[in-house]
Amino acid sequence: MNAPAPQALQVQAPAYVKNPKLIAWVSEMVALCKPAKVHWCDGSQAEYDALCEQLVQAGTFKKLNPAKRPGSYLAWSDPSDVARVEDRTYICSEKKEDAGPTNNWMAPAEMRATLNPLFDGCMAGRTMYVVPFSMGPLGSPIAHIGIELSDSAYVAVNMKIMTRMGQAVYDVIGTDGEFVPCVHTVGAPLKDGEKDSTSWPCNPTTKYIVHYPETREIWSYGSGYGGNALLGKKCFALRIASTMGRDQGWLAEHMLILGVTNPEGQKYHVAAAFPSACGKTNFSMLVPPAGFAGWKVTTIGDDIAWIKPQADGSLRAINPEAGYFGVAPGTNLLTNPNCMRSLDKNVIFTNVALTDDGDVWWEGLEKDQGKLPDHLIDWKGQDWTPAIAKETGAKAAHPNARFTVAATNNPALDEAWDDPKGVKIDAIIFGGRRSTTVPLVTEARNWTEGVYMAATMGSETTAAAFGAQGVVRRDPFAMLPFAGYNMSDYFAHWLKLGAQIEAQGAALPKIFTTNWFRKDADGKFVWPGYGENMRVLKWMIDRIEGQAQGQDTAFGVAPQYGEINWTGLNFSAEQFATVTGIDQAAWNEELKLHTAHFEQLAQGLPQALLDTKAALEARLSA
Ligand code: OXD
Ligand code: MN
Repeated sequence: MNAPAPQALQVQAPAYVKNPKLIAWVSEMVALCKPAKVHWCDGSQAEYDALCEQLVQAGTFKKLNPAKRPGSYLAWSDPSDVARVEDRTYICSEKKEDAGPTNNWMAPAEMRATLNPLFDGCMAGRTMYVVPFSMGPLGSPIAHIGIELSDSAYVAVNMKIMTRMGQAVYDVIGTDGEFVPCVHTVGAPLKDGEKDSTSWPCNPTTKYIVHYPETREIWSYGSGYGGNALLGKKCFALRIASTMGRDQGWLAEHMLILGVTNPEGQKYHVAAAFPSACGKTNFSMLVPPAGFAGWKVTTIGDDIAWIKPQADGSLRAINPEAGYFGVAPGTNLLTNPNCMRSLDKNVIFTNVALTDDGDVWWEGLEKDQGKLPDHLIDWKGQDWTPAIAKETGAKAAHPNARFTVAATNNPALDEAWDDPKGVKIDAIIFGGRRSTTVPLVTEARNWTEGVYMAATMGSETTAAAFGAQGVVRRDPFAMLPFAGYNMSDYFAHWLKLGAQIEAQGAALPKIFTTNWFRKDADGKFVWPGYGENMRVLKWMIDRIEGQAQGQDTAFGVAPQYGEINWTGLNFSAEQFATVTGIDQAAWNEELKLHTAHFEQLAQGLPQALLDTKAALEARLSA
């Protein structure tokens, strides 16, 4: 006689879940993924504490020494699961041309046929967590809701920090409100009674991070790490939200948002796009240096901005996230003192090293501590000493090791960070990472020139990006891995939005481009960066206030040496020339790369960008 088929799990939603579409979808996903249990997350502290304890019992978390790092945990991932997997990330629009040449694409029907067998039974033996979250202040007209189903408790606790997660979300969606359905599995089902043989279950061979823009769904298989698994972040807040913004007339951007207040109390808001691991968190928490008494920088967000045009033509922005998932290595009291203070307590660390007294360590902390630690356990669980590091080059922390921490831990948090109305954006910065060619700071003469600067941004790759280090990859708007649709249509969307606001007679934010990373002939960084970037930020504010004249260059408007406040920094006019000079030969080569870039993006590329390029060429050869 055949054994009876296992009873399908009956989904019992808590009474406060009143949305029939949501309950039907969870039931359908339970039938597909076949978890052993369903846990509806309420987002409470008690739930967070219990899940963290469960992760400690499973060996995924180590509780850090409460005397050193209260309320904090350390996770070490599988060594194969340490970063976003851009080559496994797909935009499955109905038409290939809508995904564009910069995204991986597969027809939705084909992708569904591929994923369906993988998701069938993928949560066997595990708990499905139902994670309700709001991207943005609860109930804000700029915010949107998502529900993530995940078989990872690590995901549930990280989502509690990174989003407004919990029961109140169900009040926002009520009986018929919209939500973006997100399904995530580590892709490691357990047979009857089987226990995990690892503390970081994932699928070592099969990973898919899939977006269906038309139906606004996210399906993630096989990874437990960061942006692959915390689906509110890159998958929803950038890839799916960018397509929502295209359809609804707003912007979802890879941008920090900061407030900057001058000694007179006048406040401005700046949004800034930099590629991954290029210092967005540092810039968003900047501490003004000596010579800037009375100036204050406050953080609204460190990674993502949702920007919606208002009836009066202003652009108002929210940070859809509620926490920071930042790169730990390189963070110290010099590069980001506010971040260091944010990490004092209630943090989840992933892939940093463990000290002998139960605290954490990563490369860069030796600058604060004056020396390297004598002994650590590295992120792979191996002994680490300075001698071993010297001999083998072993890093104590993985270069993409992360901290997850609530925004409310940040001493520089802006008072309006959770304001449902968002903040009015006065300036937008696009910053690349280039050792040559692109000057320290340039203001676009108009919106179209700003879009051109953003569209042609390049960056030398770092550990968080895919591929070899030091290679320039074009990263338009810092959105290359995150645009949910054809990049050229995305440029057109920006141009259209600018034209609409201008037609209303409203002032557009000024657009600037920056490059903190120029090197001299010896390969050394010339610009000191970090807090000193305040000097550039102040010049931007002076331009907004009409107090700096600037000078016209082929590329845009640049500061004159005397327009920067140099108090407290020795930076000569010669050094300034090294970081601001426009080298004609280098720019001629650069423009060839812009041509190649535009050829790749030819389908739908706005003529206005080609015209801007022609004008730049003409100015350079004049
Ligand atoms: C991030 C990224 O994690 O951009 O923010 O990769
Ligand atoms: Mn980012």
